[in-house]
Amino acid sequence: MTLRIEIDDIAKHFGAIKAVDGVSFSVSKGEVLGFLGPNGAGKSTTMKMITGFLTPTRGTVRVCGHDVLQDPISVKANLGYLPEGAPAYADMTPDGFLKFIAEIRGLSGAAKRRAIDESADRARITTVMHQPIETLSKGYKRRVGLAQSILHNPPVLILDEPTDGLDPNQKHEVRTLINEMADDKAIIISTHILEEVHALCTRNVVIANGKVKFDGTPLELEAKSRYFNAVCVNVANIEQSQFEAFLTSLSYVSQVEKLDNNAGFRVYPKSGQQVTAQLSENIRENGWEIDALYAEHGRLDEVFRSITLPASEAKN
Ligand SMILES: Nc1ncnc2c1ncn2[C@@H]1O[C@H](COP(=O)(O)OP(=O)(O)O)[C@@H](O)[C@H]1O
Ligand SMILES: [Mg+2]
Repeated sequence: MTLRIEIDDIAKHFGAIKAVDGVSFSVSKGEVLGFLGPNGAGKSTTMKMITGFLTPTRGTVRVCGHDVLQDPISVKANLGYLPEGAPAYADMTPDGFLKFIAEIRGLSGAAKRRAIDESADRARITTVMHQPIETLSKGYKRRVGLAQSILHNPPVLILDEPTDGLDPNQKHEVRTLINEMADDKAIIISTHILEEVHALCTRNVVIANGKVKFDGTPLELEAKSRYFNAVCVNVANIEQSQFEAFLTSLSYVSQVEKLDNNAGFRVYPKSGQQVTAQLSENIRENGWEIDALYAEHGRLDEVFRSITLPASEAKN
């Protein structure tokens, strides 16, 4: 594991507003870190500090071993950044815009042409290279921003809501592109689209009110759901009340809940363990016929709420 991004206790205060308030985490090569949190949580501000766009009130950031304050040029050379909303010069064409960025990145001649061609190809914008950016669809504009961020093939990518506002097909294309690049880069993407947790991320950091609330794998995040490994079960040839009593008596069951429309019961396992096989065996031992039996996934929306809202609000 090669550490590429190291963030230690960074904070950004705007007057009385503590936009970011002591955030620490690191990202290694091969990781796609999903940076989650509600609007205003401090995601963009954190990303701006990693990229050197904002100076932290306190704390340190290192990118590929370079300190963002002491060695800002090396940091910028090692990272690609897609800011929120993918800003670009509207009256430029993608070709002109990428040439301009390539020159800022110090490329010229054949190397410049190759970098532009390769990033345009990867971001799939080759058909619109000579059309003013302001006339492009939102999806294409976002891809122009992505092409700009990967132009110099940086080892670190910081993408601020890369799929926000795109239609499902466009989202899929952007996710595919990010997945294609994941192996040899360290990537941070901010999002509040929970399906991206599984589609894209190897790890998640959840922040709220400028503080880290969770740091772990998507599975660990899902496991925080009360529905994680819960089993819905229905049996044909027995009274519902008798079946409910049986389920409640099982040593590995913590709670039994009746499902709507007489569709059986939801059984919550003790400490989130997998109980499908054991349960099915215990039912068959009684000679009952299983109508339906399936384990649930964790519900990320519920986890997200419980992590990012105060306990009193999370229940509503
Ligand atoms: N330049 C600024 N001046 C004052 N407050 C700011 C500034 N930038 C961001 N904030 C505030 O900091 C908080 C975090 O914002 P931001 O990092 O953009 O959140 P996110 O990207 O998670 O939606 C918000 O309350 C926002 O209003
Ligand atoms: Mg933001």
